[in-house]
Amino acid sequence: MKTFFFLLLPFLTLAQNPIPEVEALLTRMTLDEKIGQLNLLTPGGGVATGAVVSENVAQKIKAGQVGGLFGIYGPDKIRRAQEYAVNDTRLGIPLLIGADVIHGYKTTFPVPLGLASSWDTALVARTARVAAVESTADGINWNFSPMVDVARDPRWGRIAEGAGEDPYLGSAIARAMVRGYQGNDLTDPTTMMATVKHMAAYGASEAGRDYHTVDMSRVRLHNEYLPPYRAAVEAGVGCVMSSFNDVDGIPASANRWLLTDLLREQWGFGGFVVSDYTSINEMINHGLGDLKTVSARALAAGLDMDMVGEGFLTTLKTSLAEGTVTEAQVTEAARRVLTAKWQLGLFDDPYRYNDTTRPARDILNAEHRALSREAAAASMVLLKNEAGILPLRPEQRIALVGPLADSRNNMLGTWVPTGDVTQGVSVLEGFKRVMPDVQVTYAKGANITNDTMLAKSANVFGPRVEIDPRIPLIRDQALMAAQEADVVVAVLGEASEFTGEASSRTDLDLPESQKQLLRTLMNSGKPVVVVLMSGRPMTIADEFDLPVSMIWTGHPGVEAGPALVDVLYGTVNPSGHLTASWPHNVGQIPVYHAMKRTGRPAPNQGVPFQKFVSNYLDVPNTPLIPFGTGGSYTTFTYANPTVEKTTYTADETVRVSIDVTNTGNRAGADVVQLYLRDEVRSITPPIKELRGFQKIELASGATQRVTFELTRAELGFYHGDGSFVVEPGKFTVFIGEDATDERHTVEFLVK
Ligand code: NOJ
Repeated sequence: MKTFFFLLLPFLTLAQNPIPEVEALLTRMTLDEKIGQLNLLTPGGGVATGAVVSENVAQKIKAGQVGGLFGIYGPDKIRRAQEYAVNDTRLGIPLLIGADVIHGYKTTFPVPLGLASSWDTALVARTARVAAVESTADGINWNFSPMVDVARDPRWGRIAEGAGEDPYLGSAIARAMVRGYQGNDLTDPTTMMATVKHMAAYGASEAGRDYHTVDMSRVRLHNEYLPPYRAAVEAGVGCVMSSFNDVDGIPASANRWLLTDLLREQWGFGGFVVSDYTSINEMINHGLGDLKTVSARALAAGLDMDMVGEGFLTTLKTSLAEGTVTEAQVTEAARRVLTAKWQLGLFDDPYRYNDTTRPARDILNAEHRALSREAAAASMVLLKNEAGILPLRPEQRIALVGPLADSRNNMLGTWVPTGDVTQGVSVLEGFKRVMPDVQVTYAKGANITNDTMLAKSANVFGPRVEIDPRIPLIRDQALMAAQEADVVVAVLGEASEFTGEASSRTDLDLPESQKQLLRTLMNSGKPVVVVLMSGRPMTIADEFDLPVSMIWTGHPGVEAGPALVDVLYGTVNPSGHLTASWPHNVGQIPVYHAMKRTGRPAPNQGVPFQKFVSNYLDVPNTPLIPFGTGGSYTTFTYANPTVEKTTYTADETVRVSIDVTNTGNRAGADVVQLYLRDEVRSITPPIKELRGFQKIELASGATQRVTFELTRAELGFYHGDGSFVVEPGKFTVFIGEDATDERHTVEFLVK
C-alpha cells in the first residue's frame, strides 16, 4: 500500500464533495489514469452476466486502466486483484469490487417479486443486510441492487427482479434495500455500496421484450416509473446504473436530461453513475453513431463508469483532442468514482473486505438460512383455500407431485450468479426435514414443459428443465399416488430461468404438460392444493376456476421446502399479498390497479359487455387476481373508517383510521392497504393509487386501530415538467384487503 493512503483520515459519514484527499489525488493523476478509473471490467471465470467477457484483465489493472471489477468472488482472489492495483500501479488506487447480489448471496432469498409480496419492509431490509454480510465476507464492496424498475408487463422476464407494478410500494422497498445494504456506515466492512437500477423505465420495455425500446409521456414517467429510483437516491444510494432502453428517443446511457438534469440537479444525487453491461457500445446498434461518438455522448450526459465495453478507455482521449468532451468532464467522472472508493474506506485499507476467516463464519450460516426460511414463508400468497383444506393436518397422507416438487435446481430463482443450487432444499426434502412423520408419496407426474426448444432456452445456467420421455407413465404414477392419498399437493409452475434477464415470454399459461397433469389429478377426486412457483404473474384462468386450493410462492430461495411446509401446515399463517396484477390472458396486458379512468368507463368493469364503453368482448377490465390479493388461515374484518377532519389545507397531514379485527381462531398477519382517489385534477388522475400500507399481527379475537398519515407526498402528483402539486378538491380513501376492495371509504376535501 502506498504511504499516501496511510495519511487519509478515518471517516464515519458519507462523503460531502469535495473530499480533500480525493482532490489531492486528482491533482496528481494523468489523463490516462483518470480514464482508467472509469473502466469497469469482468474477468470471467464465474457466471457470465452478459454476452462478452473482458480480456487481459490483470495486465490492464497493472497498467492503471481499471477502476473496478465485477464477477470475481472470494477474499483471496480479490486480494490478488487488489494487490495488482495497489502495488503495481503508480498511484496504487484500489479497485471497486462489484457483484449482482439481487436476492441474497449464497443464502438466497425469494426472488424480489416474491419478497415484495411480504409487504414487510423491515424484513426486506434484514435480507439485504444478510446479503451485505455474506457478499463482503467474500470480498465484494459494491452491489448492483436494488432493481426498482416498475413492471406492469409480466411477459418481461425481469419482472421477477423487482417489486412489481406499484411505485409507492416499490419506493418503500427501494429504501429498505438501500438501508439494508449500506447500513449507516459504508466503511463498516460488513456493508456494501448499493446501486439503484436501471435508470430509467426499463420495466416498460415495449411488448415485454427485453432490451426493447421505451416510449412514454413525462407525466407517466414522473408519476409511475421514477419514484422508486428517487426514493433510493433520497435514502443515500451510492450508485445509479443506467438502463439499456431509450427514454424520449435517447438511450438512457447518453440521456443528459435523465442522468444530469433530473438525477443530479433536481434530485441532488451525489454518487456515481455506472452504465449497464456494454450499454454504451449498444448505442451503436441503437443507431447513434460509432463507439467514439456514443462514448463521448455518455460521458457528456453524466455517465461516469463504463461497464465492460471499454469505450471510455479506448476513445475518450481522441474525443478530448477533437473537443467533443472536456478534461473537466473526465476529471468529474474520476472524482465521483474515487469518492465512492473513499466512502468505502478503500483508501484507508484496500483489503478491508479480504478477511479470509469470514466466509466460513458469515456465509450460509444457520442464522442466515433461518432468515431465508422466514422470508420465504412470509412471501407466500394464499390465493384460494377451497373448502378450507389448508392448513393440512399431520395425519393426512400426502401425494406430493409435480415437476417442481423435488427440483433443487429451480428453487433459487433467477439472478443467482452467486447462489449454489445444491444448497436449495426442495419441497420433498422440506417435508422430510420438517414433517418426517407425515406419509408422503412423491411422483414427478409431468415435465415442466415437453417443449425441447423452450427447455434448451431455459437451461443456459444449468439443467433447469429435464424432459423425461416417459410422459404417460409418469402421469399415471402421479395419479396412483393421488388415489392412495388424502390430499394432493401439486407443485407446478415455471423453471427459474423462465424469468430473469433475457427471459421474456409471450405465453404465460401453465405449460400444457402441467395442465394435463392437473386435469389428471382432478380426476382422482382428491382435494388438490396447487403450489405455483413462478417469477411472474401467470395466466391461469382455467386452473383458478377449478375447485383447488392455491398458493403462489415465487421462487422461494434456499429454504424453499421448509418454508412451504411451514405454510402448508400453518406453522406460519400465510400473509403474502400480490404486488402485481394477474391478468386473465396475455391480451389484457398491461393491466394494473392504478389505471387511468377513461371518458367511457364501463359499469361493473365491463361485466356484462356493453357497446360504446371501454371494455372487452371477452374478458372483464379487471385482472383475474387483483394487486394486493392475499389470504390467510384466519379472517379479518374492517370497521369504523374515519378521517379526523373533513377539510384540510395542502400542507396538513390527513389522518385516516380503521379498526381491524382478527375474527378467526388463529393468530395472523394482515396487510391493510390504503388507496386514494383524487376525484378531480387538472390532468387525468388514475382510478386510485396505493398511498399507504401497514402489515400488522393480530391474535385471534384482537382488534387494532390502524392509522395512516397522508402528507403532501401522498396527496400530490407530478406534471410533465416535473413540478409536484397538491390540487384542491375532493379525495376518496379506500381501505381494504386488495385493490378492488371498496367496502370501507372516507372522503375529505383539500382547500
Ligand atoms: C446486465 C443487467 O441488466 C444488470 O442488471 C446487471 O447488473 C449487469 N448485467 C451486470 O451483471
